[in-house]
Amino acid sequence: MNRSKSVHRRTVLQAVAGTGVLLTLSPGLLLTGCDGGVKAVESETLGLDSDEYDVELNLYAMPDSVPILPGAPSEVWRYRAELLKGPENTVSENPDSYLGPTIRLRHGQTVKIHIHNELPEDTTVHWHGLHVPSDVDGQPRLPIRPGETMTVGFEVLDRAGLFWYHSHAHGKQGGRVGFQSYAGLAGLLIVEDEEEADLKLPSGDNELLLVLQDRTFAGNNELVYMGRGMGSMMDRMHGFLGDRVLANGAPPTTRKVATRPYRIRVLNGSNARIYKLAWSDGRPVTVIGADGGLLQEPEDRPYAVLAPAQRLDIWVDLSEFQPGDTLELISDRFRAGMMSGGMMDGMGMMGSNALPLGSRFPLARLEVSKSLKASEPLPAQLGVQRQKIPVNSNTRIRSFELSPVMMRGFAMNGRRFDGTNVADDEKVRLGDTEIWEFHNNTPMPHPMHIHGLQFNVVGRRGGSSDSLQQGLVDSGWHDTVLVMPRETVQVAMKFERFDGLYIYHCHNMEHEDAGMMRYFQVQG
Ligand code: C2O
Ligand code: CU
Repeated sequence: MNRSKSVHRRTVLQAVAGTGVLLTLSPGLLLTGCDGGVKAVESETLGLDSDEYDVELNLYAMPDSVPILPGAPSEVWRYRAELLKGPENTVSENPDSYLGPTIRLRHGQTVKIHIHNELPEDTTVHWHGLHVPSDVDGQPRLPIRPGETMTVGFEVLDRAGLFWYHSHAHGKQGGRVGFQSYAGLAGLLIVEDEEEADLKLPSGDNELLLVLQDRTFAGNNELVYMGRGMGSMMDRMHGFLGDRVLANGAPPTTRKVATRPYRIRVLNGSNARIYKLAWSDGRPVTVIGADGGLLQEPEDRPYAVLAPAQRLDIWVDLSEFQPGDTLELISDRFRAGMMSGGMMDGMGMMGSNALPLGSRFPLARLEVSKSLKASEPLPAQLGVQRQKIPVNSNTRIRSFELSPVMMRGFAMNGRRFDGTNVADDEKVRLGDTEIWEFHNNTPMPHPMHIHGLQFNVVGRRGGSSDSLQQGLVDSGWHDTVLVMPRETVQVAMKFERFDGLYIYHCHNMEHEDAGMMRYFQVQG
């Protein structure tokens, strides 16, 4: 086992460094490096340790082979789950996709998850957006070695919302988040609660889940990650952009719908791409929720911006349509600083990407095939139970300057990832409310993410949001905020319940992997 493990690890790395082509080994070969049927080893449970859990499941991170495009299947790394205890709808597999199973939890449940690493390298699983103890947060300081199992326990403390889980590994050679997530290690996690259920929003077939990711494929449908030579340098600087967009792990499709309202819940699971969500007929985008659940009331926007790792909850009423009518959800054209501008293209540097940042392309097509007489008005009041975090002129402001580092990516207050080392100004006190201020002193947008909590956006100043400005949804609760070039954004948060180490970073995965990530410490 040990011998084959190291062989496979080396082969995978070679394939990546040498050709830029991902996972060209047959999955059968990869699988021999792991013992396929790992069973839950009774190990110590990190986080919440209890005698009784409401939900218990096995989660496997494993190589697989999945059809994505017509023709040969693609080799991927993906999650699979097995429900051991809990309501039957807790786990819904996405069998035809590399996406991990959708995990549905309810507020207040206690959950125990055995994570089995069947990959040829270290991994972790981060529950993006969830308020969980530091030790179950999936941080790189607690890697799961190949062939090993880690058991985590937590209580679902968040209110209803769309969250997600993905790899968060960072080794001696640098971050592996970009590579592992790109290979397929990501899935949706939905939290439900009573406040949301009482609103009777469209559910079941009338709730569409949409995971947006961009990918590049080689000739035989192999996934390709990062360019070569100069291309690789540019990918690292801008973040990796695939040359086609996938919705739920497949090329965008047509969905048959009826003349009624729908709830569309969208995750940007891309490494670096920003989407500008709009309707093809120009109707406003009605936003009802963000990262941390429902807004207080619906908001109509001409378009809505979705940065990497962010989620948006959208409501659309098709009741005035006729059978045969169609409506497309698109990502509309935009400019976001230097990254998408003609400047780079003009220099011939980004010319190789067939789908530059800010291109226009379809995401989903709704085709009305059935007439109904249901009318379900959208409630005027949505998530009103969680009050905004109160801040005033005495609230402590902690500033972070985002700046470029020659040839090495980006820094925060001049610092880059340094394991669990925490500087004095990265220590906060349990129970405190603070405003964190991100000042973007770079020509690129950065989606800044803070682990373990949801924050409110206090305000923005400066910056060049230009063609994205009216679509930045800042109300409600967030764990990731897009900071535009030269812009300063303030977010308010409270450090509650858990002390210990957490992480803040840019969720452009290539920026993060290159070191735009730091630990901070909540001191009890
Ligand atoms: Cu989704 Cu630290 O990230
Ligand atoms: Cu960044």
